[in-house]
Amino acid sequence: MSAASALSSRRPERAMEFAFSASDHRAIADMIYAESGILLPESKAKLIYGRLARRLRACGLSSFPAYLARIEHDAAERAHAVDALTTNHTSFFRENHHFEHVRDTLWPGFARRLAGGGRVRIWSAACSSGEEPYSLMMTLAGQDVRAAQTLATQDFRLLATDLSPSVIATARSGRYSPDTTRAMPAAMRRTWCRRVGEQDELHPSLRAPIAFRELNLLRGWPMKRPFDAIFCRNVMIYFDEPTKARLLSRFADQLVEGGTLYIGHAERIPPEVADRFRCTGRTVFEKVR
Ligand SMILES: C[S@@+](CC[C@H](N)C(=O)[O-])C[C@H]1O[C@@H](n2cnc3c(N)ncnc32)[C@H](O)[C@@H]1O
Repeated sequence: MSAASALSSRRPERAMEFAFSASDHRAIADMIYAESGILLPESKAKLIYGRLARRLRACGLSSFPAYLARIEHDAAERAHAVDALTTNHTSFFRENHHFEHVRDTLWPGFARRLAGGGRVRIWSAACSSGEEPYSLMMTLAGQDVRAAQTLATQDFRLLATDLSPSVIATARSGRYSPDTTRAMPAAMRRTWCRRVGEQDELHPSLRAPIAFRELNLLRGWPMKRPFDAIFCRNVMIYFDEPTKARLLSRFADQLVEGGTLYIGHAERIPPEVADRFRCTGRTVFEKVR
């Protein structure tokens, strides 16, 4: 089924405001693939239309070809389009078994190293709006604000990156709707959230050790030194096999020997890089070379 017919066959009550042809779909899918590695097959035509129609309106344009011509030369609008087309679904303590694994398996050794003046680095790659790195911080500190404050004085850093500027801005703000913070265990929520107006603000000590940065996983990485653990969850599902294999090989290069990689529940290590990781738990891998 073509993109246009896929759209019209599921057309809701309202007529489409802009025509959206199969070739418009292909041009947008090619652009987002080149920019981010994300695959948007024809089955996603409705999603593309819904998310970009808003951009057409914001730009005062009346057709997809006109919008495509615009993003060809307008890098800022292209960034808006990429931002609009990313799927940023996340939640506090999502796939909680990973946080339990950090707490029970990695943290005792890390805590000893930090207490002895050593260094620990963790990377939350594709962190979306920040729930993942903040869940990690809460896991490490438990319900103890002083433990989080101590971490901020030690050689501990948590790098949290995402392609999308809008989600990184939310992550940096440390403010979430009460609907979002409800996913935290109640005791954690009581310890770490303070109601400010309509929102819950996370305690500043959770935010202090985290560096939030915009970073495209497909481009160069400025980090020189390796990480003890990398979280890269629920983004590789949007990539094709060669992109996954290249990315995982780079993660292996970026981990210390014996470092830990966490991936999403629907993700796998492709055969091309299988010799670089050893499975040590549910979607948990150790770098072996
Ligand atoms: C579904 S969210 C996953 C968030 C979190 N890791 C989790 O598991 O809850 C996927 C994130 O990947 C980001 N993303 C997509 N392509 C990316 C790329 N090439 N580089 C960096 N981030 C990317 C999106 O912006 C989105 O925020």
